[in-house]
Amino acid sequence: MLVPIIFFLFKVSNLSRCCKKNTEMMAEPLDDWTLVCPLSDVTDTNRKRVKMDDRDIIIIKTNTNLYALDSFCYHAGGPLYIGDIEDFGGKTCIVCPWHKYKVAIDRGEMVYQSCDPHNPSKPVVWKSSGIKQRTHAVKVKDGNVYVRFTECTGKVPSDQYNNKEYRERLGLS
Ligand code: FES
Repeated sequence: MLVPIIFFLFKVSNLSRCCKKNTEMMAEPLDDWTLVCPLSDVTDTNRKRVKMDDRDIIIIKTNTNLYALDSFCYHAGGPLYIGDIEDFGGKTCIVCPWHKYKVAIDRGEMVYQSCDPHNPSKPVVWKSSGIKQRTHAVKVKDGNVYVRFTECTGKVPSDQYNNKEYRERLGLS
């Protein structure tokens, strides 16, 4: 009984680190932040694909915030970065063009519609299947966008596709 409890506590503490708000205050020093592009470059449908070390990251600008998350979809490596951005169940999501999975841009959760086929009168609701796409901290200073690699130490499914090896397999730089 003790082992499942310890495992659960570990998962919860790990998840809370993943879920830390990804837009940081501007007052902190820039030591562990990487300048990825000028804010003025985030213009192509309010997004910009950048590389930070070997990581492929998409910067997304909304009316209220800036977000950074892995570019290739956790599900099968699709080009999530070119997906449409829409709201589902109150969450702003990017929709992967390959199989239409919806990823919340703030925390990287996969969201889906849930219904009860045995009870059609029950309302359809949006649910989360948990964090699947790695998100990163992002901020703007002096007109430039800075990214800091996520503090989440556990494995996130999108890790397998957002690296140099996968880009080379696709023939991308
Ligand atoms: S690869 Fe993105 S939904 Fe399948």
